[in-house]
Amino acid sequence: MDPALNPFAPGSGVRPPELVGRQSEIDAFDLLVVRAKSNTMGDRGMVLSGLRGVGKTVLLNVFAEQARRNHWMVIQLEAQPGVEGMTKTRAKLARELEMGARRLRGTPVWSYLKDALGSISNISGSLGVAGFSASVATKHGRADSGKLDIDVEELVEDVSVAMRKARAGFGLFIDEMQDLDEELLTVLLSVQHLAGQRGWPFYIIGAGLPNLPGKIAEARTYGERLFLYRTIGQLDKKSSADALTVPIGRLGASITERALSTLLTGADGYPFFLQTYGRAAWDITSGKVINEDDAKLAIEYGTIDLDHGFFQARWQRATPAERKYLRAMAQDGEDSSQTGEVAARLGKSTNKLAVIRSRLISKGVVYAPEYGLIQFTVPGMARFIDRQIED
Ligand SMILES: Nc1ncnc2c1ncn2[C@@H]1O[C@H](COP(=O)(O)OP(=O)(O)OP(=O)(O)O)[C@@H](O)[C@H]1O
Ligand SMILES: [Mg+2]
Repeated sequence: MDPALNPFAPGSGVRPPELVGRQSEIDAFDLLVVRAKSNTMGDRGMVLSGLRGVGKTVLLNVFAEQARRNHWMVIQLEAQPGVEGMTKTRAKLARELEMGARRLRGTPVWSYLKDALGSISNISGSLGVAGFSASVATKHGRADSGKLDIDVEELVEDVSVAMRKARAGFGLFIDEMQDLDEELLTVLLSVQHLAGQRGWPFYIIGAGLPNLPGKIAEARTYGERLFLYRTIGQLDKKSSADALTVPIGRLGASITERALSTLLTGADGYPFFLQTYGRAAWDITSGKVINEDDAKLAIEYGTIDLDHGFFQARWQRATPAERKYLRAMAQDGEDSSQTGEVAARLGKSTNKLAVIRSRLISKGVVYAPEYGLIQFTVPGMARFIDRQIED
């Protein structure tokens, strides 16, 4: 069928043609927005965690959009690992604070937010952004101590109080939150905790890899109680089928039962794979009906696409030594591997491999589900590695 009309959207954070299977998360966030509107207190932020390509970013964007529609102060950022990442993330936070405020100009919220503008421009220093912001009047004495914890707290207080008066909320949406530097993470968790106690409508909405809830709990003992935690995972069969049939049907085409079943088996409930195979099936099919042969070919072509994009992107970033490590892990398939066992396979000590392991973690290819265990963050990575010729 005409590729120009292809509805499927494989891509990082790209909104799918039909967002399926996430209604309970969307409802939970809607409830938060409604409760903020009525100044109801005692709500928690949300944390979405899951493997690569399951739809965390898409969901986070849906939430942020919903918050914006309700005139929330919305800050969106993606944390990045390492020292350089830390600087970038903080600079982005400073910039986003200013942008978030600007976006509210001309809305009913603006008159309340004006009081907090001084703090917004003052905080830049603590976030390491020198000489930032000439566009808003500086209010002395708030969020300008140069101490991150004090300044973030004052800033969140000022903005939250304004948003409460405006019957809206202050949402900090952080993608790849497992990469947030420890200092900023701890400060943010403390402020989220305080917000709960003081009734400030400040909510951190985070998304990240499966190790994110553990990181939060490690940073702050009360971290477990701060958020509504949701695991974002594979879609069930009905939702997976809808993800394919609804966009196809909407454009006046259809798919046979057997073809659908072939695509569903190939995608195994993973949103990124559904989009990839759906797109291939659409492009391959000549008539208006996707049949089994089309579907089989779509799996073949789609898998080549995945190999060159989704998987290859991660594989290429790995050094030869890191690839050896990943290969040793791949012997356990999609399951987690024991770090001791992987080391034994490579004939090295676990300690010697610690650097390689932590580099792979910071590259986001693997994560530690528990102490002494290591697992791929990318579904299907083990099978991909098996397909690669040893170098
Ligand atoms: N609920 C859904 N229904 C159908 N397709 C979806 C759904 N959620 C996400 N997708 C599709 O899956 C792909 C991956 O989505 P997204 O980038 O949000 O995943 P992610 O979990 O953030 O991945 P990563 O960990 O790599 O950042 C996109 O192509 C998106 O269109
Ligand atoms: Mg993402």
